[in-house]
Amino acid sequence: LKHFLTLDGLNKTILTEILDRADSFLSMGEQSVKKVPLLRGKTVVNLFFENSTRTRTTFELAAKRLSADVINLNIETSATSKGESLLDTLQNLEAMQSDMFVVRHSDSGAAHFIAEHCTPNVAIINAGDGRHAHPTQAMLDMLTIRRNKGQFEGLKVAIVGDILHSRVARSQIHALTTLGVEDVRLVGPKTLVPSYFADLGATICHDMSAGLDDVDVVVMLRLQKERMSGALLPSESEFYRLYGLTEEALSWAKPDAIVMHPGPINRGVEISSEVADSDRSVILDQVTNGIAVRMAVLSMSMSGQVQEQQGGLGVEA
Ligand code: CP
Repeated sequence: LKHFLTLDGLNKTILTEILDRADSFLSMGEQSVKKVPLLRGKTVVNLFFENSTRTRTTFELAAKRLSADVINLNIETSATSKGESLLDTLQNLEAMQSDMFVVRHSDSGAAHFIAEHCTPNVAIINAGDGRHAHPTQAMLDMLTIRRNKGQFEGLKVAIVGDILHSRVARSQIHALTTLGVEDVRLVGPKTLVPSYFADLGATICHDMSAGLDDVDVVVMLRLQKERMSGALLPSESEFYRLYGLTEEALSWAKPDAIVMHPGPINRGVEISSEVADSDRSVILDQVTNGIAVRMAVLSMSMSGQVQEQQGGLGVEA
């Protein structure tokens, strides 16, 4: 069994394979994915130590559409409240012959930690760890871009907002640059878009009109206040005035530019309702595509097709 912890180390071929497989699930029934028996007899356990609406639900739907048995462990009512350690909880779940753990945790590196301590019989899928990585979110975003734009080469993509605390942005930057997007722009204030992000192969831009100029794709991110200390907390109204995606701001992008957001959206903070609900917005398509991408990742991980190209379980600095 193979883990799916990060996109780092995965090359264009394997990322394209994930997209192709996800596309094949979608095209079986267009936007509604049909049930297939690829994980029949397997047990997938959702372990969400941090809140989620989209990721947890679409992982559950994906596993069920693959015919797996799915357990959603309610962490708040589990025996961890009686003092049981994380590793003891995991050992008990392993003893129930679980095949996969889908893990969301507020600590960066949590999925890697679990992968290092579980038996080799369980595959670990990272559903978002701290500010480190959210690999399936980035892949459903790539599928959404490819289904709308046809290819990655030649595209200009702006990622706007709280880049500093965003695991989504980190995974997206890797996916975009690996798949052939040369113009990736990170747009936001200096406090939320530090200059060292340029090392990832993106251009830093602190001015919204320059950042959105002529782009094909605008990805908006919310302010992750739960990961901010007081000094970093921007005023919401000031942030919206400078970096909010309004109809005027969207007019700086290409006329056919699409608007994306991983959710949850905060209307009037990073995006206006007019833009979020407009026909330029593909935000809900992203959610639908998440089912197919998670089906692809679960099935490829189970058959060992993913980690062959990953250097190991190491967590990046
Ligand atoms: N995009 C995303 O991870 O949303 P949830 O927190 O609802 O899973």
